[in-house]
Amino acid sequence: MADQTQVLQADHAMRHWADPSPDPVPAGPDRHLRMFCELLLQTHNPYKPAVIDWPQLSPEALQRVTSLPIWDIAVQTEGRATMRVRTFAATVQHPLLRRALEMDADEEARHKVVLSKLVEAYGIPLAPEPDYPPPADPEWGWLVTGYSECIDSFFAFGLFAAAKRSGFFPADLVETFEPVIQEEGRHILFFVNWAAWYKRQLPWWRRPLFSLKVARVWLFLIWERIGIARGIDADGTAQDANFTMTGSAAVAEPLEARALIELCLAENQRRMAGYDARLLRPETVPRLARLALRFLR
Ligand SMILES: [Fe+2]
Ligand SMILES: [Fe+2]
Repeated sequence: MADQTQVLQADHAMRHWADPSPDPVPAGPDRHLRMFCELLLQTHNPYKPAVIDWPQLSPEALQRVTSLPIWDIAVQTEGRATMRVRTFAATVQHPLLRRALEMDADEEARHKVVLSKLVEAYGIPLAPEPDYPPPADPEWGWLVTGYSECIDSFFAFGLFAAAKRSGFFPADLVETFEPVIQEEGRHILFFVNWAAWYKRQLPWWRRPLFSLKVARVWLFLIWERIGIARGIDADGTAQDANFTMTGSAAVAEPLEARALIELCLAENQRRMAGYDARLLRPETVPRLARLALRFLR
């Protein structure tokens, strides 16, 4: 059993990381690869999120938590992410990169366990879980998971802060979910650095094809989210999209769109601030959010 000091140290370690090398920028693709793999591996928190004895909730809090329409989507998203990342990891030859990807997949599996236990503890009825077949194209599956986490985590950062602030979630639940949200932050940081590294090390003539594939992934994710927002699921089951699309109305009711986006931006900044400044940051979604702010006067 870990004592309290170890748990606190691990919590600090998962939020702060710097590569020891003095170079102002990662010199060359090999350095860059080592840097973002070590980031993920060294900031892994062995203790949290843990499956805890779920706190007794007041009847009102229980009602609020169980009636959120996010639990099916959340559990299935973690199940699908685990399968997709694990399938992609198995195709990777580079031992360090493979280890980092396997760690990423294990963390997704742990998220699913935590969520399943919560759902069970509070008697939240779930739709029957679908199978999670391995994707036919492992790289496509990895890209879809990576970019959908870039979208969902950005909004989850803000919604989580809003729910914490308003007391929508009881403190014990906030405490348990906090490391899950930070882990998703580490995942997207790792992912955008992987994507930049991967493209850079491809032969020049394959780079446009990769960019095209990334563009197709974004179109797919936008289409999928429009479907979810309308309540239409592509194949009748809850698709990718974390808490964000469905959870926003319930959790952040008192927040105006503008205030919510500003909170997402601030939280994104805060959650990324502890990691080596030489690593690339997820930029696409924050940029779109800043653009949206210019229209939300
Ligand atoms: Fe996850
Ligand atoms: Fe993740």
